[in-house]
Amino acid sequence: MKNLLPKLPEHIFRLFLVFLVFLGVILLVRFFIPNSFREHKVQIASTVEREKAREIKFAGTSACAVCHEEQYNIKKNGYHKNLSCETCHGPAQGHTENPTEIKPPAPRDRKFCPVCHAYNASRPIGFPQINPVAHNPLQPCITCHEPHDPKPPETPRECKACHGEFERTKEVSPHVLLKCTTCHVTPALHKVTPWSVRPSKPTTREFCGRCHGQESTVAKTAKVDMASHGEKYVCWQCHYPHAPEVR
Ligand code: HEC
Ligand code: HEC
Ligand code: HEC
Ligand code: HEC
Ligand code: HEC
Ligand code: HEC
Ligand code: HEC
Ligand code: HEC
Repeated sequence: MKNLLPKLPEHIFRLFLVFLVFLGVILLVRFFIPNSFREHKVQIASTVEREKAREIKFAGTSACAVCHEEQYNIKKNGYHKNLSCETCHGPAQGHTENPTEIKPPAPRDRKFCPVCHAYNASRPIGFPQINPVAHNPLQPCITCHEPHDPKPPETPRECKACHGEFERTKEVSPHVLLKCTTCHVTPALHKVTPWSVRPSKPTTREFCGRCHGQESTVAKTAKVDMASHGEKYVCWQCHYPHAPEVR
């Protein structure tokens, strides 16, 4: 090499080499990098081609409506109106083309709904959230919530919904057939705002005497002499009213 270019000083020669390598790289790049990388129009065209070639996986909610009018109409105005069918049922284009052979899964498992509804401090305020560990465990969410129209179900409004222990106690006692409201006059509002609206409670011996006094005409109850039995004490100082045991 040195003999071929004798007059060049060594540092110029090195610079020349670097230039040669640089030129080589440019030519290589031009040769190997496809047109679509360099030309804007070709690039757009080939991208469109590529995207069009992709398999379509999602059909969109309106496609489902054709055959599943029922679910579509239920969901339309419910809390889940902004959820696409395929959010829960997965991509279902194949199913729309061949409904009997290809069936989308339905997320019946309890694990599914907490993906969106498990408590998470970063979710917007007011978004309905629950603690999956404490919120009615053991049963799938869809036993109580219709997935296509999940209205929050009414809280049970019987006494036992909130006073389970009294109910269970009474259940196995001689007072099993007595309704709670026989002894507690309960305004309807108590079930809505229980702390501020309270039911009545018996206050006198005579209250029990209605059924247990010797003069009582209520059939099939044990009778006591009101004047002497327990004397000046109210009856529930000796008999638990929700389970009046006698030995
Ligand atoms: C061309 C009509 C048609 C279209 C469009 C259609 N389906 Fe279906 N789908 C059916 C039929 C028919 C069945 C019942 C298949 C069977 O039980 O044999 C079914 C069943 C289902 C089931 C129940 C599967 C199961 O295990 O019970 C789900 C979920 C479902 N479709 C979701 C969808 C979704 C989501 C879409 C929209 C992307 C959709 N379908 C679009 C006809 C259709
Ligand atoms: C929040 C999730 C969710 C969304 C959104 C949803 N589904 Fe479902 N879908 C379910 C679940 C869960 C079941 C299973 C219900 C069951 O077994 O009782 C189901 C069941 C079905 C079934 C089987 C029949 C039935 O009622 O059990 C069809 C058909 C269906 N969905 C269609 C649709 C269509 C069409 C849409 C959109 C309009 C849709 N689903 C939106 C969760 C969803
Ligand atoms: C992709 C997220 C998503 C999934 C999955 C989902 N939900 Fe929802 N859910 C929502 C949205 C969004 C709302 C409407 C919230 C609003 O109106 O502020 C909602 C509302 C609800 C509500 C109404 C609560 C209220 O008091 O406002 C219930 C109940 C509910 N969903 C139950 C379910 C159940 C059961 C499942 C499983 C089958 C489920 N959700 C799956 C997003 C989801
Ligand atoms: C045994 C019945 C039952 C089951 C099972 C159940 N729920 Fe509920 N859910 C209720 C009742 C009743 C309410 C309304 C009273 C309340 O807030 O507790 C409710 C309320 C909700 C709410 C509204 C809370 C709010 O702040 O507005 C959401 C969201 C919800 N449930 C989601 C779920 C999810 C997700 C599952 C499954 C992991 C589930 N539920 C399982 C009975 C049930
Ligand atoms: C929604 C829940 C709820 C329902 C339903 C409910 N209660 Fe209550 N009740 C409460 C709460 C909370 C208190 C206050 C408990 C306390 O003071 O320790 C209470 C208190 C009471 C008291 C005591 C009042 C007092 O002044 O000490 C009586 C008696 C009572 N309830 C009877 C009933 C009867 C009878 C029914 C059914 C007709 C009923 N409750 C239904 C929640 C409820
Ligand atoms: C035979 C009449 C009778 C029946 C039936 C009855 N109770 Fe009572 N209840 C009483 C009496 C008496 C008291 C005690 C009043 C007192 O201590 O001042 C009482 C007290 C209560 C209290 C207040 C408890 C406390 O520690 O302060 C509640 C709550 C209550 N009852 C709920 C119920 C419920 C719920 C039922 C139905 C499952 C029921 N009761 C049925 C007579 C009855
Ligand atoms: C509406 C009628 C009624 C009222 C009011 C009532 N009881 Fe009773 N009680 C019964 C009946 C019915 C039985 C079951 C039959 C029986 O064993 O006497 C019973 C059983 C009993 C027993 C058990 C008797 C036995 O021999 O096993 C006792 C104790 C008792 N009640 C106490 C009370 C007290 C205390 C009150 C007031 C807080 C009260 N009862 C209010 C109807 C009533
Ligand atoms: C100082 C405690 C005390 C008070 C207060 C009291 N009892 Fe009793 N009661 C007892 C005892 C102890 C027995 C069981 C022994 C007996 O028969 O004397 C009994 C038994 C009973 C029996 C069952 C009688 C039978 O023949 O089986 C009834 C009914 C009864 N009481 C109702 C009442 C009523 C109603 C009141 C309120 C008016 C009341 N008791 C107040 C202690 C009391």
